[in-house]
Amino acid sequence: WTTEHLYQYQGCWYRTTSGIQGVIWMQEHFKPRPADVLLVTPPKSGTTWFKALLFAIMNRTQFNTSTHPLLTTSPHELVPFMEMFLHMNIPFPDPDPLSPPRLFHTHTPFTSLPQSVIDSQCRIVYVSRNPKDVFVSFYCFLQGDNNSAIRLSFEEAFEQYCKGFSPYGPFWDHILGYWKANSKWPERVLLLKYEDMKRDSSFHLKRIAEFIGQPFSSEEEKQGLVHEIIKLCSFESLSNMKVNKTGTFRAGYLTVDKNSFFRKGEVGDWKNHLTAEMAERLDKITERNLDGCDFSFDDSK
Ligand code: PPS
Repeated sequence: WTTEHLYQYQGCWYRTTSGIQGVIWMQEHFKPRPADVLLVTPPKSGTTWFKALLFAIMNRTQFNTSTHPLLTTSPHELVPFMEMFLHMNIPFPDPDPLSPPRLFHTHTPFTSLPQSVIDSQCRIVYVSRNPKDVFVSFYCFLQGDNNSAIRLSFEEAFEQYCKGFSPYGPFWDHILGYWKANSKWPERVLLLKYEDMKRDSSFHLKRIAEFIGQPFSSEEEKQGLVHEIIKLCSFESLSNMKVNKTGTFRAGYLTVDKNSFFRKGEVGDWKNHLTAEMAERLDKITERNLDGCDFSFDDSK
């Protein structure tokens, strides 16, 4: 993307003006309940995976490996994308304190979240991923993306990404916004990394469950529920389900092939795509931009 193909709103870049309208609509209409959970990610940082994990944690009372909703419905359909509500004509349901906690997803940066979210007690689960893998994942995704008329070479796209020109970018500002929010409200904002979840899924799954106020009981752990959820939501499992392999997912004005959410699902694939100079440059930009906060990525394989 170049700035000619992106639109800025409150310091963040969007692909379309419709995308910005969706954010404004969300800012004006969303009314969270205290028990709601908001999954927030920069694009290509593990959205699909964590939608599945959070959905499975929050709906685990009826957990059954042969009839689980994830077997028949895409994680993107199970967990609504808040910016798209306007374009899908979905009203935000009125807050009803008696119904169970709801789960939503957004890519919106912290500074553009609805004031109602800041003022409420709802939990925010923020997932980020190292920028080298995010860039590669984004670039590969765009190659098959029918919504985009823009075709940049790998080198051109890299140049733009380094300058902060990417949807929901600059990437580093996105992370900094939620990092600051976590420093201020650690009980409301949980910071997670794709790489950490890969390395120690069981530990982090339990951390998420505790954070959203739904910890696993020792009975559930003994039954192997933590392990079952990790297995069901793994890359191998989700990417091989028919529901995620075929057909398209329509969210408002966007139509995406369902299989485009799955590529390799690994840490460190950037090594197969970026030159040593590119990797060093991106590392330096990340270091400079995240200077002063104790936030770094272990992005080797
Ligand atoms: S999007 O478009 O923002 O919703 O995309 P997102 O889901 O955030 O990111 C896509 C990348 O996540 C990988 N992926 C997974 N990794 C691990 N486990 C599971 N279950 C999983 N599902 C999807 C997907 O392959 C993309 O990463 P890359 O590096 O391109 O493979």
